Amino acid sequence: MIQTIPAPAPRTEPRTGPGREPGREAGPRTVRVALAGCGTVGGELLRLLRDRGPAIERAHDLRFHVVRVLVRNPARPRAVEVTPGLLTADLDVFLAEDCDLVVEAIGGLETAGRIARHTLARGRGLISANKALLAATGAELDVLARERGGTLSYEAAVAGGVPVIRVLREALAQTDVRSIHGILNGTTNFILTRMERGASFAAALEEAQARGFAEADPTLDLNGQDAADKIAILAWQAFGVLPARLPVARRGLVPHPDRLIADAAAAGGTARLVAECVNGPEGVAAAVEPVVVSRDSALGRTPAEENLVIVETGSSGTLRLAGPGAGGGPTASAVLSDLITAAGAAPATRTRSAPATVDRRAHRWAVSIAGNGTGKGRLAAAAAAAGITLADALDPGPATVRALTGPTSRPLLHGFIRSLEQAGLEPVALRVVSGD
Ligand SMILES: NC(=O)c1ccc[n+]([C@@H]2O[C@H](COP(=O)([O-])OP(=O)(O)OC[C@H]3O[C@@H](n4cnc5c(N)ncnc54)[C@H](OP(=O)(O)O)[C@@H]3O)[C@@H](O)[C@H]2O)c1
Repeated sequence: MIQTIPAPAPRTEPRTGPGREPGREAGPRTVRVALAGCGTVGGELLRLLRDRGPAIERAHDLRFHVVRVLVRNPARPRAVEVTPGLLTADLDVFLAEDCDLVVEAIGGLETAGRIARHTLARGRGLISANKALLAATGAELDVLARERGGTLSYEAAVAGGVPVIRVLREALAQTDVRSIHGILNGTTNFILTRMERGASFAAALEEAQARGFAEADPTLDLNGQDAADKIAILAWQAFGVLPARLPVARRGLVPHPDRLIADAAAAGGTARLVAECVNGPEGVAAAVEPVVVSRDSALGRTPAEENLVIVETGSSGTLRLAGPGAGGGPTASAVLSDLITAAGAAPATRTRSAPATVDRRAHRWAVSIAGNGTGKGRLAAAAAAAGITLADALDPGPATVRALTGPTSRPLLHGFIRSLEQAGLEPVALRVVSGD
């Protein structure tokens, strides 16, 4: 059921800063959020705040209160219902709103840039999903945030729901990253994977737009600029190079997407749009281009709107981060995570009162026992006694008897193993997993 976002309550909290006023009564701290944009990402963020609000209060002691929503057309029907009084198309009204944190999910450079500078100049926290803005002015905004005591967060700007910024900035902060490459544009990956299976370019693009992966104007997805902005942001995180100064050699899917599919197949592989940045002896170089990869490589197996980021390091080996790279849900989740961090909540382990249980799902198991001659009969007899079906006999080894079970729960399997152990048959069991 669609619910209404509550109207702003009177402010009871200090305007900025994570701390509670000394002597204040316990209770969730209210954080006032101004949201620019109520489209795919902004609308989904409102839905998340509504649905996850109680859980956020319990886990982080925070209550996010949306005080203003900036849109282009307040009369437009929305997927999530917003209290009409919150919507405004007037940028000055939006900028004048008294708030703690601002989320920018409108895209573009001009209005988004004004919102960003205005927010950071006042020492507030800005959370942005806007890769174009970050690639063009991220370093400048970062300086402004530091000078004025605000915060700048943009996990959602690269790879949607995959927390790659945090990994580079925090987990790998002191690691010798050598290169980063991967699939950073979910729209083009979606299109390529659909075309591989016979869809036309136009039909695949239309589906990507209908499902909310593609930007309203997909030009920047298709010509590689979106991925170029993202790899520039990652190069900034990993190597400190100014994103606006990094020339990214760029080729996209257009103008001949059909030929990319056919040529990659003729070369024995599949086509992917790959972004990369490398820290070499002469400096940092970056590119976005179509590549042929083998179908069973990590890049070749990255499906539909997924993203994959591969980080090569000297001391920590190779890291692979994969997950949903686009779409309202994953992107809004990343924004929400930034909101919680920017609100100053200490990272919390979410110990909940969820009941613990025993997993009774059925799996297939490869079971073997030591023994020869009579072993096969003994295995079958023990299985029958345990209520387990042996689906297939596997090739016996020189001194072992092997079989595959039918669908069997873990508790049943464990009882079976115990009975084999008690009979001195030295059982070994492996769960049979299909897929990843
Ligand atoms: N969609 C994704 O999967 C995804 C993933 C990662 C990052 N992002 C980034 O997130 C941002 C938002 O993307 P989106 O897909 O949510 O876009 P969207 O669906 O087109 O929504 C944009 C929203 O911003 C409002 N808006 C746009 N320009 C405005 C202006 N000049 N003044 C006031 N309001 C304005 C629109 O108002 P109306 O509704 O009235 O038109 C709309 O509510 C972009 O920077 C995008 O690159 C998106």
